[in-house]
Amino acid sequence: MNEQNKKNLENSFACVILAAGKGTRMRSTMPKVMHRLAGVPMFSHVFSAVSPLSPDKKIMVISSGMEQVKESALKIDNDTVFSLQEKQLGTGHAVLQTKEYLSGYKGKILILYGDTPLITTKTLENILSCAQSAEVVVLGMRLDNPYGYGRLLVDGNGKLQEIIEERDASDQQKKINLCNSGVMAVSGKYLFSMLEKLTPNNNAGEYYLTDIVGIAGDMNLHCQVVEADAGELSGINTRKQLAAAELVMQNRLRLKMMDEGVTLIDPMSVYFMADTKIAPDVVIHPQVIFGAGVKIESGVEIRSFSHIEGAHIKSGAIIGPFARLRAGSVIGNNSHVGNFVELKNTNLGDGAKANHLSYVGDAQVGEKANIGAGTITCNYDGTNKHKTIIGEGAFIGSNSSLVAPVNIGCGALVAAGSVITEDVPDAMLAIERSQQLNKERRKKK
Ligand code: UD1
Ligand code: MG
Repeated sequence: MNEQNKKNLENSFACVILAAGKGTRMRSTMPKVMHRLAGVPMFSHVFSAVSPLSPDKKIMVISSGMEQVKESALKIDNDTVFSLQEKQLGTGHAVLQTKEYLSGYKGKILILYGDTPLITTKTLENILSCAQSAEVVVLGMRLDNPYGYGRLLVDGNGKLQEIIEERDASDQQKKINLCNSGVMAVSGKYLFSMLEKLTPNNNAGEYYLTDIVGIAGDMNLHCQVVEADAGELSGINTRKQLAAAELVMQNRLRLKMMDEGVTLIDPMSVYFMADTKIAPDVVIHPQVIFGAGVKIESGVEIRSFSHIEGAHIKSGAIIGPFARLRAGSVIGNNSHVGNFVELKNTNLGDGAKANHLSYVGDAQVGEKANIGAGTITCNYDGTNKHKTIIGEGAFIGSNSSLVAPVNIGCGALVAAGSVITEDVPDAMLAIERSQQLNKERRKKK
C-alpha cells in the first residue's frame, strides 16, 4: 500500500467474505465461488482487490462441504480464517457467524461477497475512507433495471435510512434505481449488537444484513451511501453472468498488458489468466490463449493460434504460429518454436530451434541444437516417463524418434528417419534405418 493509501485509512479494518450460499442457479456440484474467472476461483479476485489494503483479518463464511473453498483460500492467503454457517438463514445470519473472530474488534468491518469478483481496490479504498465518518457505509449503484436488488432509501440530506429488498418493496419503492451492491463497511463497535437485533420478519423469512441500516438509524448512528460503477458490482449467479464477468476481466487484463508495454495486435482475441506475467516489448499476434503460470521476458514474439501454459519464455524467442507450450517448459533466449510443435516439461536451450511438427517432452535440449521436422521424443513407456537429453549444437534429422531414456551428445547428428534407442556420443553420426536400394525400373510393356 502506498503512503497516500495509508493516510486515507487511518483506522484498521477486518474483512468478511460471504461465500456460504449454495449457488443453485449455477446448476453445478461445485460451490459457486469456485467457478473460475481468468483461470482462478472467482472469490480469489475479491482477495486480490482487498489484499493491497492490508486488512487485519480475513474471514470467509462458508457452509459445510466447502472444503475445496477452504483449501483454495488457504493457498491464496494462509492467514485466512473460516466461519461455518450450518444453515443459510440469510446474509445477516452469515455475518453473525464471524463473531468468534470479531467480537471486541474495534476497527471497521468490511463485508464483501465471494460472488462479486469484479470489485476494485480503488472502490474498497473509497468505502473505507467514508467509513471514517459514518458507522455504516453501503456501496450503492445505479441500475437501469434494478429488479432483484435491495433498494436504498435515502432522505433529502443524502442520509441512508433503510434498505428494502425487492420482495418486500412497494410498487413505489421498486421504482428506485439506487441499489445495494451488498458491500458494506460497518463500525466493529456496533456491528454485532445490531446483528443480534435482526429478526426474520420479512417475506423471505431470512435474517437480512440490510436491516442493520434501519437498526443503526434507531440507535442514532450515521449511515451513508457511496456510489460506484455498476460494472464492477454485478454479482455472479448464473453461467451467463459468469461469461459476462469473464469478458470484463479479460478486457481489464488486456488493457493492463497494453499499459505495461505489451503489443496486442488484436486484443479481443487474446485470453490471459490472472497470473500471466509479460514484460514490455513482447508482441502478441491475434488468437493466442494463455493458461496458468506463464512468464514471458521482453522481446518475445508470440504468433497466432498458440496455446501457452506453465511456460517461461526467455528474451527474444519466437513462438508459433500454432505452437503448444505445456507445463514445465523453459524456452531459451532467441530460440524458436514453430508450427504444430508441442513442448512439455522441456528446457529448450538458447538459440535452439524446433520449427515444425514435433513433440518434445521431458527433455533437455542444448544451446543451438536443431530439432528437425517431425521429431518425436518417445518419453512414455506406458507406465513411466523418461528423459531425453540432446547436447549443444546437436542436429536431429527430420522424422526421427528418440526413444527415452536416451542421450544425444553435443554436436551429434541423427540421420533423418532414425529410431534412436541407444545413446549417441558427442560429434557422432547415428543412422538407424535400412539401406536404400536403387534398382532398374521395369520397362512398360
Ligand atoms: C443481497 C442483498 C441485496 C443486494 C444483493 C446484491 C440482503 C438481504 N440482500 O441479496 O440487498 O442488492 O445482495 O447482490 O443482504 N450468503 C451466505 N449465507 C446466507 C445467504 C447468503 O453466505 O445465508 C452469501 C452468498 O453466498 C452470497 C452473498 O451472501 O455471496 C449474497 O447472498 P444472496 O443470496 O445472493 O443475496 P441476494 O438475495 O442477492
Ligand atoms: Mg445474489
